[in-house]
Amino acid sequence: MPQAPLIARTLPSLHRALDRLRARNATVALVPTMGALHEGHISLVRLAKRRAKRVAVSIFVNPTQFAPHEDLGSYPRTWKADIAKLTAEGTDLVWHPDAGLMYPPDFASRIAVEGPATVNLEDRFRPHFFGGVATVVAKLFTQVRPDVAIFGEKDFQQLKVVTRMARDLDLGVKVVGAAIVRERDGLAMSSRNVYLSAEERATAPVLYRALKDTAKRLRDGDSLAAALAAGAGSITHAGFALDYLEARHAETLAPIASVKDGPARLLVAAKIGTTRLIDNVKV
Ligand code: PAF
Repeated sequence: MPQAPLIARTLPSLHRALDRLRARNATVALVPTMGALHEGHISLVRLAKRRAKRVAVSIFVNPTQFAPHEDLGSYPRTWKADIAKLTAEGTDLVWHPDAGLMYPPDFASRIAVEGPATVNLEDRFRPHFFGGVATVVAKLFTQVRPDVAIFGEKDFQQLKVVTRMARDLDLGVKVVGAAIVRERDGLAMSSRNVYLSAEERATAPVLYRALKDTAKRLRDGDSLAAALAAGAGSITHAGFALDYLEARHAETLAPIASVKDGPARLLVAAKIGTTRLIDNVKV
C-alpha cells in the first residue's frame, strides 16, 4: 500500500514537513493545483517525480484569480478523491492552506505582471486572472521553496507568465511545462469539463479538431488569415461563442504575421453554453 502524503494546513506544519522531505539535500518539485484532480494533473505529478526526489502538491482554490461573476463558489472540490489519487502516485506532501491563511483581512500586496500577461489573449477576457495567479504562485513558491515547479501547457499563457515571473523576480525555481493530456476524443482535460452537459460534451472536441485542422492548413502553406478564418468558422458553426483563435509566437506570445515568424502556437478560447474552454497546439 503506498503511504498517504503528509498534509500541511499551516505554515509551521508545512515547514516541518519540508524539513523532513529535504533531509540529505533531497530536491523538491511543486505541482500547484486547485484540486479536482484529473489525469492531466496526475501527469504533472509524474513529471515532478522525474524532476525531483520529493513531490509536493498544493491544493488551493485561489479566490483572487476569479472575477465576481466567475465560478469560485461552484468550482469542483473533490478532496477525498484527490488525496486517494495523490497517495496512489506516491506524493510526499500536500499543502492545503485556507483562504484566511493565504489572504488575511489586512492583505495588501499584489504582483503586477506584464509581458506575456498583457498580450490580448486570456488577459483580454479575464483581466483579473494573471494578477491573481502571479500573486498566489509567488506565495506558493515562497512558502514551499521548491527547486522545480510543474505547470500544464493547457494554460499556455499562464505557463509563460509564471516562467517569466520566476525569472524576473529571481525566485530560484525552475518552471517546467507539461504536455496537455486529452480525452480519447481529443478534448483537453480540465476540472471544468464536469460543467458540460452531455450534448455540450459531445460537441466539445470540435475545439481540438479545429486547432489541428488549422495547424495543418498552416503547415500546408495556407495564409494565416485563411487558416484562422476556416478554424473560427468550424468552431462557431458547432455552436461555440468564440473568444479568440490566434496564432502567436510560442515563446513571447507576440502576434505573428506568418508562421515563418514562429515557432508558432495556436491558441483558442470559446464558450459552449456557460462553460469556457481553452486549448492550444503547436504548429
Ligand atoms: O492552473 C491552476 O490550477 C491555477 O491557476 C494555479 C496555477 C494552481 C494557481 O492558482
